[in-house]
Amino acid sequence: MPKPYNPRDRFYEKARKEGLRARSAFKLEEIQKRFRVLRPGGRVLDLGAAPGGWCQIAAREVGARGFVLGVDLEPIAPLPPPSQTWVADAFSTELLLRLRSEGRAPYDAVLSDLAPKTSGIHGVDEARSLDLAGRALALSLEVLKPGGSFVVKVFMGGDFDAFLRTCRRAFRQVRVVRPEASVARGSKEVYLVCQEPRRGVDPPAGPDTSGAASEGPGRGS
Ligand SMILES: C[S@@+](CC[C@H](N)C(=O)[O-])C[C@H]1O[C@@H](n2cnc3c(N)ncnc32)[C@H](O)[C@@H]1O
Repeated sequence: MPKPYNPRDRFYEKARKEGLRARSAFKLEEIQKRFRVLRPGGRVLDLGAAPGGWCQIAAREVGARGFVLGVDLEPIAPLPPPSQTWVADAFSTELLLRLRSEGRAPYDAVLSDLAPKTSGIHGVDEARSLDLAGRALALSLEVLKPGGSFVVKVFMGGDFDAFLRTCRRAFRQVRVVRPEASVARGSKEVYLVCQEPRRGVDPPAGPDTSGAASEGPGRGS
């Protein structure tokens, strides 16, 4: 029988020892080691950033000349420069305009570890999670620099294959990664590491990204 998930596993202990706010930091660390999505001096948008573990890793990689903006529905306890945080809904229609006016868009990397509050109803959680991933993809295509990278959490199952195809249409290179820290949790989550947005690909239909129309669906909770 598979071992039950222990929330205080070796990644939890390692995070505590290294002063990282979340064990999920090791997922981004592994992705970074393998694919170098974060570069010194780069600008990074981190969607679904609370409590701030990914921001910590991203800040370490981009260094003092870089910039990391963490966005979450939940407030994030202050982080030192080069990180900044906003309380905002990824679905809000103002977010794109605000990223451009105050958020230093465009970015070298857009990261999304967005996850809905789980309802316990499998199909509902999967659909909400995919909505969040779709929203992150649409935003990334609006604010990524040419040659930029997009990392997004997705749950296997449901419409995963369709989402993967959409990402492959939008980026030249897409890899599916299951970090060790996800395996240790027995989670069905994977991360798509998408690099080099193709020019002239429209953001996928779905939640509005113009910053001008009505509110999109689902707050992910
Ligand atoms: C798995 S946690 C992120 C952990 C983070 N990467 C870290 O290392 O600390 C997922 C986050 O997504 C956020 N979230 C869910 N729906 C959201 C939305 N519509 N807009 C912004 N954040 C959202 C949740 O509040 C939660 O903090």
